[in-house]
Amino acid sequence: MMNVDLKSKVRDLLKKRKAIMLAHNYQRPEIQDTADLCGDSLELSIKAAQTDAEVIVFCGVHFMAETASIMSPGKTVLLPRMDAGCPMADMVTPEALSKRLKEIPPMPVVTYVNSTAAVKALSTICCTSANVVKVVNSLDADEVLMVPDKNLAKYAALHTKKRIHFWDGYCIVHNMLTAEVALLAKEKHPGAVFMAHPECRPEVLELADVVLSTSGMIRHAGESESQSFIVGTETGILHQLKKANPSKTFYPVSKDMECRNMKKITLEDVARSLENMEGEVKVPEDIRIPAKEAVRKMIDLSISK
Ligand code: 13P
Ligand code: SF4
Repeated sequence: MMNVDLKSKVRDLLKKRKAIMLAHNYQRPEIQDTADLCGDSLELSIKAAQTDAEVIVFCGVHFMAETASIMSPGKTVLLPRMDAGCPMADMVTPEALSKRLKEIPPMPVVTYVNSTAAVKALSTICCTSANVVKVVNSLDADEVLMVPDKNLAKYAALHTKKRIHFWDGYCIVHNMLTAEVALLAKEKHPGAVFMAHPECRPEVLELADVVLSTSGMIRHAGESESQSFIVGTETGILHQLKKANPSKTFYPVSKDMECRNMKKITLEDVARSLENMEGEVKVPEDIRIPAKEAVRKMIDLSISK
């Protein structure tokens, strides 16, 4: 079936099911173009918590659908491909976190949303790449444990007086980017603004002009007077960047920065999922209730001025 036919089929099914389609900025272009909202992890979790739709079809990875289910237990949350996971989310388990918490003095746990619901349930508050510094600084404690992303934790440590204890997790896509590759891109495109995601290594972030979440990059490119940008994150974002700024030029820092998991969902998968109400993600209440506290605190902080 042609993409246009599939797109209208999905839109008809969304109407029939009273559903909303949310897509992360790294999804395939045709998924981004069909969705009701395309955004970063923070925007998508806020929308999932606030929507009136009866069904949420989440085009992203498993932890994102779980977060939607945590916030909206009365809604049906569908993930069109159950095997779309985030390897970083699996780098911390509730068992390993509980063990670590017994080994260190009592301190708040700031958990990146790229984590399982069971890990969120053990956490004080969640954060995303868009609000990490604000979340860490909001805590009434001198020391904080951050899980699972060590790069995000090291970035936060540069912007707070608090002592950050980090976990040895990382994003396999962002952590792969080396300072050498970033330097080559800067040499090749002199004058281009280098935008990097905080999941990148510290030595890469040192070379960046700005460090932003995915939607932060889209906003920055629109507001900036610069005409060209080196994009230091997963390549799926180039679609939104070019769509929002057709007169500007965007160079991926490396064409290899592609997340296989973020590219799994196709329009066919979305149509099948909505047709058969297949791929429901539901978090059990004993995990959902404590996990909701951690996500809710983050959302409250993010929407307050
Ligand atoms: P953001 O869109 O929140 O910046 O997240 C990046 C990411 O890696 C999501 O998996
Ligand atoms: Fe996980 Fe990285 Fe893929 Fe995001 S880009 S889903 S953090 S592996």
